[in-house]
Amino acid sequence: GIEPLELAVCAPLAEAPQWQTKRSSRKDDHVRLALQQHEQEASNAFDDVRFMHHALCGVSVSQVDTTTTVCGSRWELPFYINAMTGGSQRTGSINAALARAAQATGIAIASGSQHAALRDPALAATFTAIREQSQGFVFANVGPTVTPRQAAQAVAMLNANALQIHVNLAQEIVMPEGNRDFSDWPQRICEIIAASPVPVVVKEVGFGMSRRSVEQLAALGVRTVDVSGRGGTDFAAIENSRRTAREYGYLDGWGQSTVLCLLDCLSAPSDVDILASGGVRNPLDVVISLALGAKAVGVSGHFLRVLEDRGEAGLVDEINSWAEQLRSLMALLGASTVADLQHADLLLGGTTLEQATLLGVD
Ligand code: FNR
Repeated sequence: GIEPLELAVCAPLAEAPQWQTKRSSRKDDHVRLALQQHEQEASNAFDDVRFMHHALCGVSVSQVDTTTTVCGSRWELPFYINAMTGGSQRTGSINAALARAAQATGIAIASGSQHAALRDPALAATFTAIREQSQGFVFANVGPTVTPRQAAQAVAMLNANALQIHVNLAQEIVMPEGNRDFSDWPQRICEIIAASPVPVVVKEVGFGMSRRSVEQLAALGVRTVDVSGRGGTDFAAIENSRRTAREYGYLDGWGQSTVLCLLDCLSAPSDVDILASGGVRNPLDVVISLALGAKAVGVSGHFLRVLEDRGEAGLVDEINSWAEQLRSLMALLGASTVADLQHADLLLGGTTLEQATLLGVD
């Protein structure tokens, strides 16, 4: 197994150079460039969705039940801090702060990709900070290139409740040091599921999951998929910024929106639980995702930006405020439970309506 290291999150400055490996500076680049993308709140496909207002269908805020079930566990709130980071000194501190905010508010949190720590155990402490700070639901995170044994190590490293496998094809293509062979991903996902001691979630990283992808994953034995669509953090743009000539600049904005993914996936009945993420900016986006059938909603870029701007206490306030607004919005829509939200009437417009019509899922 991997020995958790003492040093880590608060390593003295003299230790700093040893952290500046190529991989750890990539992690710092990702955080810096993602923060830039979230400087201003952008419009996205969630703006193409409106709820039909019904004047008399409200319920009491005090009766609203926000619980949901993800990977067999009951969560008090149907939103969570989605996968981001770890692997460098700065990102270790970010993980510790995110995890303290998750603990203070009772929401689940996902680790960033743990590959760095699997290759170099000295970096493990930048991830184990998550479990040290949060006793709640924690997702471990790996890509489909790890061995089943490494996947189990990643789970053990965090004593994780579930394992996320990120599939990030478009990012790898644009990433200067990215993978070039994706042919064995389905087989590897199968092997990881067979070896994982905890439930597995397969997630995108902001390019979206088509219905075809979800059906393929279901056939591989995957029971929970996070569609993580376009609309928020754009890893094609991030990796283009890390190239000197932005060769793949035309891929910025690749993929389909989270809303379109939800419409597409949920148009066909399936026993796969769907999680939503990608471009979630506020509690209304959460409620729209739940109304479109998601069991829970992940937030990365927005929460990272709040942490940067307002610090850890500001992030705790933001999450608590979202929880309160979520209960209000559910009462407004006459939903006493998360599942009730699926009876709300939605109106679709804009590009999302055009695309949904093309796909026959409007
Ligand atoms: C990510 N994301 C991500 N996902 C993953 O599975 N493993 C990872 O290591 C990372 N790393 C990462 C770093 C940073 C800085 C960000 C902002 C995001 C992707 C993330 O989980 C999510 O799928 C997308 O960011 C889309 O959601 P948002 O950011 O639009 O809410």
